[in-house]
Amino acid sequence: MAKLKRSFFTSYGLCLAAASTLALAACGGSSSSSSPPPVDNSSSSSSSVSSSSSSEVSSSSEVSSSSSAGPIAVETDVQLYTQASFPIGVAVSAANEPFSIFNNNDGVERQDVITHHFNELTAGNIMKMSYLHPQEDNYTFGDADVLVNFAKSNGMKVHGHALVWHPDYQVPGFMKNYSDDWEAMLTEHVTTIVNYFDDTVVSWDVVNEAISDSPNQGDGWRKSLFYNALPPAAEGDIPEYIKVAFKAARDAKPEGLDLYYNDYDNTANTARLNKTLEIAAALKDEGTIDGVGFQMHIYMDYPSLNNFENAFQQVVDMGLKVKITELDIPVVNPYGSATPPPLPEYGETLMGQQKLRYCQVTQVYLDTVPEAQRGGITVWGLGDNESWLMNQFRNATGADYDDVWPLLFNADLSEKPALLGIAEALAGEPCTSDF
Ligand code: G3I
Repeated sequence: MAKLKRSFFTSYGLCLAAASTLALAACGGSSSSSSPPPVDNSSSSSSSVSSSSSSEVSSSSEVSSSSSAGPIAVETDVQLYTQASFPIGVAVSAANEPFSIFNNNDGVERQDVITHHFNELTAGNIMKMSYLHPQEDNYTFGDADVLVNFAKSNGMKVHGHALVWHPDYQVPGFMKNYSDDWEAMLTEHVTTIVNYFDDTVVSWDVVNEAISDSPNQGDGWRKSLFYNALPPAAEGDIPEYIKVAFKAARDAKPEGLDLYYNDYDNTANTARLNKTLEIAAALKDEGTIDGVGFQMHIYMDYPSLNNFENAFQQVVDMGLKVKITELDIPVVNPYGSATPPPLPEYGETLMGQQKLRYCQVTQVYLDTVPEAQRGGITVWGLGDNESWLMNQFRNATGADYDDVWPLLFNADLSEKPALLGIAEALAGEPCTSDF
């Protein structure tokens, strides 16, 4: 069993006490960096905290002083992707998005962390429909080229996201009023994009979220623009647009490109899981799908590990790949009660529990999905402060959380115990909340 090196600091403490190259880079100490000091808006100021070995971590006085100092950083000798035989990915912002890995501020530091730990990238936004195909006769690949070339020059691969997805703001405007031949138009859209990229792009979410937000109601299909244009050909069929998109992608590149159907809440939610399996089965009959993407925007206590195992197993039994495409684990669940709960203290105890959760999810994946069917694990963002979840929770519930700490890196890009959780599972070590 591999023994992982870990010692911990507060986030600010890391920058004061950093000894490793990675830690220095994360604190703006690399020669390439011109960034301002890291910002940790979840903590007040921290006094200097020096490094301590894992054996020193257990005393409760250290625990409480660390807890009050804010999020903790661990210093590790881990390099995540080297421990896995399948892709370990991260969703990144690019172009001129906030938190872009190409910004002039801390972009280079972001790149350093990414290339150290990951061997696959997903564009969080810039490879969605309207970004790549804004007008019927106009494709804009410039921003994606920069990202894909960055991946390529660093020996990384790219998971494409997403060829067909319904949200209004990212559906190309011309499609909204399209009244001509939808099958031909959609085929051309998918074919052109798939053909454009070289073999750096190894997989695509061909269709994302085709299932209704209320999958128990009616026939369970999302009545999107695409559904309305190309509905099921007969009762009991999956919508035609899904078949058309997957066929176009398969025909465009019959070899070397894995095609995924991707959706959220498709583990514990039986109705959504069943619809997901219905899509997978229909496409498998046509020979146009390789795997199912489980977004896995999950919580600390929901869904259960059994839910994950059951869902993954059913896809495995179909002979398809399982990919965890958008993993994040916020430490608060605003949907779990009538009113969103207050933000918990994000100190050593909760960080340890989150580490355990990341480890267990990874372990279930390893235990359930045979090696040949592992499409990989991707986390949805780099530093906690860039997560989409704070906006999402605010919009959906009114919860006003500054941070929900869902990811593997602190706002200053230092490593969190959560990262050790994935590393421990990959190394075959038992999952614990210790670090
Ligand atoms: O880039 C602009 C910026 O210039 C502008 O100042 C700012 C003001 O609102 O908006 C920025 O664009 C935002 C973009 O993220 C980049 O930050 C968009 O408004 C915002 O809608 C967009 O949100 C993304 C969301 O998908 C919608 O595309 C999230 O970052 C992204 O994490 C999220 O990802 C989705 C997956 O694609 C599918 N599964 C669910 C997942 C979470 O919603």
